[in-house]
Amino acid sequence: MDPEICDAKKVCLSDSDILMLAQIEEHPDVRKWAGHAYGGSVEKMHEWFKKSLTELPRSSNEFVVAKINGTVVGFAGIHRFTGNMSHVGEVGVMVHPDHQNKGIGTALLKACIQTAKKGGVERLEADTLAINKAMMKTAQKAGFLVEGIRKKRLKRDNHYYDEALLAISLEYKEHAE
Ligand SMILES: CC(C)(COP(=O)(O)OP(=O)(O)OC[C@H]1O[C@@H](n2cnc3c(N)ncnc32)[C@H](O)[C@@H]1OP(=O)(O)O)[C@@H](O)C(=O)NCCC(=O)NCCS
Repeated sequence: MDPEICDAKKVCLSDSDILMLAQIEEHPDVRKWAGHAYGGSVEKMHEWFKKSLTELPRSSNEFVVAKINGTVVGFAGIHRFTGNMSHVGEVGVMVHPDHQNKGIGTALLKACIQTAKKGGVERLEADTLAINKAMMKTAQKAGFLVEGIRKKRLKRDNHYYDEALLAISLEYKEHAE
């Protein structure tokens, strides 16, 4: 079944939707792929999401949510940089492990690309751990290209991990061939 993709700037999420975002973010099989630690508990992430979504309409960030039969199963956010990098957005995407491998991650990234284009983002980045095969595949399926690898960019429990730099150019071509 195709997910319903909602733009959180246009559709109001209920408190139980927001709680589900926090539960996905804090799920151990999702959290293990996060490059850096924040949140720390479902309760803290729930509060963090509530605050972020309240501020979202006034920010240049974007947020899209995937629902199946009305239940939140995944989400993607775009953080828009400022100053000399205000044309760049960074995307993060997460799908509940019970719903992975059903095309939801790809649908979320494609929705992000459309939302980013409408918002004037010219370049969308999706950096990830190079060993994150699911993200590497999903991002490339959505049109992102691997621009490079930062060797040993992350160190966790005394192990080093390479970071893959993935990006897609969304520049408007006035004289498209
Ligand atoms: C990365 C993630 C968002 C992908 O979402 P998803 O809904 O499972 O992705 P899709 O179903 O759209 O799959 C897209 C492609 O990736 C492939 N894929 C998915 N999981 C895979 C895995 N573990 N290993 C290899 N390929 C995988 C799928 O087969 C599909 O390719 P295909 O169409 O050629 O078969 C999801 O795995 C996730 O939430 N992971 C944890 C959080 C995370 O790592 N986020 C990225 C860092 S910001």
